[in-house]
Amino acid sequence: MRILVIGSGGREHALAWKLSQEAEVIVAPGNAGIAEDAECVEVRTGDSQGILDLCRSRFVDLVVVGPEDPLVAGLADFLRANGVAVYGPGKDGAQLEASKSFSKDLMIQAGVPTAQFEAFKDATKAKAFAKSLADSGSMPVIKASGNALGKGVVVANTLDEAEEAIDSMMLDREFGEAGSTVVVEERLLGYEFSLLSICSGTDFYSLPVAQDYKRVLDGDRGPNTGGMGAYSPVAAVPTNLVREAEESAVRPMLAHLQSLGIDYRGTLFSGFMVQNGKPICLEYNVRFGDPETQSVMRRLGLGLSTALMAAAVGDPIPPVEVLDNYSVTVVVASGGYPGNYLKGVPILLPEKIPANVKVFHAGTAIKDGVLSSNGGRVLGVSAVGDTLEEATASAYEVCDQIEFEGKHYRRDIAASPV
Ligand code: AMP
Ligand code: GLY
Repeated sequence: MRILVIGSGGREHALAWKLSQEAEVIVAPGNAGIAEDAECVEVRTGDSQGILDLCRSRFVDLVVVGPEDPLVAGLADFLRANGVAVYGPGKDGAQLEASKSFSKDLMIQAGVPTAQFEAFKDATKAKAFAKSLADSGSMPVIKASGNALGKGVVVANTLDEAEEAIDSMMLDREFGEAGSTVVVEERLLGYEFSLLSICSGTDFYSLPVAQDYKRVLDGDRGPNTGGMGAYSPVAAVPTNLVREAEESAVRPMLAHLQSLGIDYRGTLFSGFMVQNGKPICLEYNVRFGDPETQSVMRRLGLGLSTALMAAAVGDPIPPVEVLDNYSVTVVVASGGYPGNYLKGVPILLPEKIPANVKVFHAGTAIKDGVLSSNGGRVLGVSAVGDTLEEATASAYEVCDQIEFEGKHYRRDIAASPV
């Protein structure tokens, strides 16, 4: 099977690495690290025609779309209309991620448990609702409805903070158009987990659960990021909790999408908060999570390519082999991330990387012949072991040896699992 993976981040590196163990893999456009594991072709993710041409010239059997932007823009629809098998939802399904207010409306329609919320286009009304939540004892969470690279969510600790967030999203347009509508919702308390389900219409198969660390600083302090690390499996999420999450948020959402005429083929990534023992759905994404995928791919045996192909053509999903191991991924980020950061900073990787560690590249490029940073999240150091402690120690050993100016990473990934 020949697979074309679309994207250039850590998630795509992990997917390409795993898939290349059982298929021939091409990545467009890829990055400096991906190029070491698969062939990279310089076609941009937004260049639909270029991608179709590549599929035809290289006889690609399956396209796996990594990031959400091309899905939201309709890449999957365009390729399908031209007879290409694609793993990734069409534009209509991708609205689940592109619009948080749409996504929350669908959760209500499908009966999916989620935080109480309202969506607003008017800042004064949004603030009034935030105040009513605070008055009733729940601090509000403010979310830019559109896509803000995982940064458009403010979990407020005071009403002032909530009001400031509403002003900066709606009036100052900190995230541009993404903030023209905001969702204000009740704050849930508990612990989180990410569930990645491979979906084929109403059929699905969930990969092992992972836990992501969203805040930039140790102890879950500082602003939200796209994700600073992840580990799997998650002891606090036993099989019965996974089944409950699937039955309350994955199956009903897929059935509801189908009833709306949306045949969803791709990843449904559900983010949950476990509150009082119940999984409550925080959000959906329409692609694999990053860095969760980096950890999850390290735990798979054979069968991913077959499962993704089945989803792409609308067949039932065969199970994927899951290994009996632990994996930990620590994201090494650029100085300043998630705020402004420099690109083009030279990176020195350790000469010897232990066999149980894989360094996935999230934002790297070769600049003047030198491996350099090219994004906010630069590397994902992903280790496996027989225990979580072993995997964690191995990941940090390599993180400590990576050199580039301004590098930072959390020191507490998988340190105190819930
Ligand atoms: P989202 O993009 O909606 O998943 O939000 C990003 C992160 O913000 C989540 O992973 C949570 O850590 C936090 N968050 C979002 N919604 C809530 C909520 N209702 N209560 C508490 N934390 C939340
Ligand atoms: N790690 C969360 C995300 O991929 O959105």
